[in-house]
Amino acid sequence: MEVCTKKRKGLGDGGLYKKEEGDGGWRFASKGRGMEVLCKEEGVWRWRLCKKRKTSILLSVLSPPSMFDLTGKVALITGAMRGMGKADAVALATQGATVVVTDIDLKACEEVAREITATGGKAAAFALNVTDKKQIDSVFDAVIKQFKKLDILVNNAGIFKPKPALELTEAEWQQTIDINLKGYFLCAQRAAKEMSKQKKGRIINIASIACGQVGVGFMGSAHYSATKGGIIGMTETMALEWGSLGITVNAIGPGAIDTPMVAGIKSSPEAMKAITDRVPLKRMGTPEEIAAAVVFLASDEASYVTGATLFVDGGYLAA
Ligand SMILES: NC(=O)c1ccc[n+]([C@@H]2O[C@H](COP(=O)([O-])OP(=O)(O)OC[C@H]3O[C@@H](n4cnc5c(N)ncnc54)[C@H](O)[C@@H]3O)[C@@H](O)[C@H]2O)c1
Repeated sequence: MEVCTKKRKGLGDGGLYKKEEGDGGWRFASKGRGMEVLCKEEGVWRWRLCKKRKTSILLSVLSPPSMFDLTGKVALITGAMRGMGKADAVALATQGATVVVTDIDLKACEEVAREITATGGKAAAFALNVTDKKQIDSVFDAVIKQFKKLDILVNNAGIFKPKPALELTEAEWQQTIDINLKGYFLCAQRAAKEMSKQKKGRIINIASIACGQVGVGFMGSAHYSATKGGIIGMTETMALEWGSLGITVNAIGPGAIDTPMVAGIKSSPEAMKAITDRVPLKRMGTPEEIAAAVVFLASDEASYVTGATLFVDGGYLAA
């Protein structure tokens, strides 16, 4: 149990607490009529009232309650060698999670993992092509063997290869569906099997504002939009089916975010102007601004959020 000494406003008499070093922890003695301390039990902070005079509490850990704390969690992120996936991995590690960086290029994943460990984080790297079920199984097996559990999955790997619908080949259509939609399903299904064993888990699916039904159409993105709309539908269904297993499933719908995926848009002043003109905040978003939403949905603070899509788009959809 983690305990914090913060006094609840209007209750207790924090000024009288005496702090002594205890056996491996800290001891707080209240000389008041009673006090409330904030305790973290099973990931949830609760106020506990100690009624007796001179209550003495052995504190196993002395740390102020921090929101979005992911200490002890294991998170796997797909497509994490660059862009938003890398930012997600860095942000989750910063909050204390052990992160499993996966993508198609092992060396690039190892580099991201090195960056994280160099700054005190915990990370491992695996090659994972999300279209390959055998590889998904073997990577998840290895993660469970090494870390004993999986708490968080961020389905992020994706491609965006715009082409007019009349010119799209069947192979091009299929490639986008396989990576952006089937890959999400296979990873989520495998993750849920692991998470259900501990009756707790977080699955976060990166969708897009290009998902249909929100008034955003992008030329050349029939295949891409089909996957992003599919991700939101799939997210809602998984949230229903897996809620009783203790697993929340949510989507994030980024607007235009400055990553290698949109290099083409960035190099075209007209395309950039078309986007930023409509965005109330008048700029693209950063990968870190998406990672912040990922951290929230991964955290205990999001315990009552499931089946939701959180659009992080600088106000694009409101415009
Ligand atoms: N950048 C944007 O404006 C934007 C907007 C909305 C949604 N998104 C979505 O965000 C996610 C991340 O995109 P990003 O902008 O960081 O792009 P990115 O191209 O920088 O990153 C995508 C990553 O996915 C990986 N990937 C591709 N195919 C894979 C496969 N078969 N298996 C595993 N990994 C694979 C790539 O190697 C790459 O590292 C994608 O799902 C994308 O559709 C991006």
